[in-house]
Amino acid sequence: MERLKMGLIGVGGIAENRHIPAYQAWSEHVEITALQDVNLVRAKEVAEKYAIPNVFEDYLELFKHVDAVTICTPNKFHEAIAVAALNQGVHVLCEKPMAMNADEGRRMIEAAEKNNRILMIGYHYRFMEAVALAKKSMEEVGNPIVTRVQALRQRKVPGWGVFINKQLQGGGSLIDWGCHLLDASLWLVSPSKPVEVNAQTYQCLSKQPEQVNDWGSYDHEAIDVDDHVSAYIRFDDQSTLLFECSWAANIKEDHTHISISGEKGGLSVFPYEVYQPKYGRMMETNTDLKEDDQQAGIFQAKNFIDACLGKEKLKHNPNDALQVTKVIDAIYESSEHGKSIFLEA
Ligand SMILES: NC(=O)c1ccc[n+]([C@@H]2O[C@H](COP(=O)([O-])OP(=O)(O)OC[C@H]3O[C@@H](n4cnc5c(N)ncnc54)[C@H](O)[C@@H]3O)[C@@H](O)[C@H]2O)c1
Repeated sequence: MERLKMGLIGVGGIAENRHIPAYQAWSEHVEITALQDVNLVRAKEVAEKYAIPNVFEDYLELFKHVDAVTICTPNKFHEAIAVAALNQGVHVLCEKPMAMNADEGRRMIEAAEKNNRILMIGYHYRFMEAVALAKKSMEEVGNPIVTRVQALRQRKVPGWGVFINKQLQGGGSLIDWGCHLLDASLWLVSPSKPVEVNAQTYQCLSKQPEQVNDWGSYDHEAIDVDDHVSAYIRFDDQSTLLFECSWAANIKEDHTHISISGEKGGLSVFPYEVYQPKYGRMMETNTDLKEDDQQAGIFQAKNFIDACLGKEKLKHNPNDALQVTKVIDAIYESSEHGKSIFLEA
């Protein structure tokens, strides 16, 4: 059977903890043959640990030896590496967020289309069973009226890597963590399209010198990204989405939430529940699901591999990822200028 030759670019936390195990789970269909990282020592260590035969210093050289790459660098480098790979005829799975902004995202899609290559963005929440079931349940929910989305972590600013550096990441809790919930919720309510965004971002708790942080320590003077974000998003059908995210919140516990109240019924995603009026009462449908991030990453890898091998369509179109990036841009712009930002429907 044909095996896809895969290269990994940027071999830090997510490459080692999600993508390497996911490709190992599908080893009949894919083989990781090459790595590249600006930190050559790290790349060599990972190569040795997982018996990956080649380490390249230059990703342009790596592209000559693989069919596909998975990009796991800081966000600033996503576009340049993805476009270079696509222009060399190499398929791309790029970690989320797609890019630093929508202009970069558009150029990535243009390169994929021009070269007829696969481009997928690693929004793995789509591959969670609860999210997929919720999408199927939208028929029972009917047209969405109000959607509530919360991506809230109690004091978990990432203390490693470059997550607090705006120049390298483009933002903080929103572009890093809120983007997953935005992607899932925009998909659930589609074809409703966001047309207006009004938002406020904050950089407050993470700037305080007396830190309580569960995910290591970080430089509270250097951090220059959002730690709280709230947004009000209006859609072309007048439905609305109330969005909140934080990775440094003063709350009782972490909270990941999507719920939709629709014209026929409602649903919650985490945990999966559907609410409907029936026989004169509100009835609830639920099921016992164990949400597993790792499992979603494995399903995402299979869809990417199969799409590259021409066996299956992508379950996550890069235009959807671009839509998420447009909303993220609008949230940051709305907060900066203190006014609503309007998007084309
Ligand atoms: N899907 C998810 O849930 C999820 C979770 C965590 C991270 N991510 C994304 O994955 C990416 C990486 O995050 P991480 O947690 O692995 O970070 P990390 O800091 O652990 O690793 C980043 C790696 O990239 C390398 N690198 C930096 N610049 C590079 C360049 N120009 N070329 C090649 N390598 C370079 C670094 O040396 C490092 O080894 C980010 O875009 C992040 O948003 C996604």
